[in-house]
Amino acid sequence: MSKFILECKNLIKRYGDLDVDVLKGVDLNISVGERVAIMGASGSGKSTLLHLLGGLDKPTSGEVVLNGINLNTVGGSKLAKLRNQSLGFIYQAHHLLGEFTVLENVAMPLLIGNESVKNAKLRATELLKRVGLGHRIEHKPGELSGGERQRAAVARALINKPALVLADEPTGNLDSKTADAVYQLMLELNQELQVSFLVVTHDHELASKLGKVLHMEDGLIL
Ligand SMILES: Nc1ncnc2c1ncn2[C@@H]1O[C@H](COP(=O)(O)OP(=O)(O)OP(=O)(O)O)[C@@H](O)[C@H]1O
Ligand SMILES: [Mg+2]
Repeated sequence: MSKFILECKNLIKRYGDLDVDVLKGVDLNISVGERVAIMGASGSGKSTLLHLLGGLDKPTSGEVVLNGINLNTVGGSKLAKLRNQSLGFIYQAHHLLGEFTVLENVAMPLLIGNESVKNAKLRATELLKRVGLGHRIEHKPGELSGGERQRAAVARALINKPALVLADEPTGNLDSKTADAVYQLMLELNQELQVSFLVVTHDHELASKLGKVLHMEDGLIL
């Protein structure tokens, strides 16, 4: 077994028939239990990189190896299963499902993984309490504030105790106290379960707390 949870080599991404590469050959390795921040100007390719690393989109060339599996070699339900088991996503936009309650949204990854409804709801409730949403579990996402939705999205990303969490500005919409609670939750999971984190952020304080800080510029990690 590789000591890296994630490896990527010479990742290049070009959208459609545009003639500029958005990613120009990114190399990146993340060790088990490592916490890495990515900073960089708007448009430098951070979200694009996260999408490729998470198997949400395919690179134009290059490869991503997650937990020893080359994502270029898997697709469909196998890729979906690998993502569900190994990854947690916190997107720049929250992507909660509007027709389900907060509790159901957070429990969803466990239910997809065949956990019993009772256990899934118990664990979701526990995690929602930890992000300060214990009083909002029966609400629909549309009835929450932006920061509350973001915290629910964080809880959903962490519920499976994934090996790696990919987070795109997880604390971007939060006040400093809530942002700190979210960071503490990440840190606890990192220390208890060796969960690795790759976090895109514009927040210098969060980046420095994570430990390793990478800088992205014009499609490359410097
Ligand atoms: N689906 C797409 N089709 C075409 N171009 C795209 C697409 N998605 C992103 N881009 C372009 O790729 C570049 C990088 O975008 P990306 O979203 O990765 O930036 P970012 O670093 O996450 O920026 P921000 O900090 O603003 O979120 C941008 O110039 C953007 O316009
Ligand atoms: Mg982005």
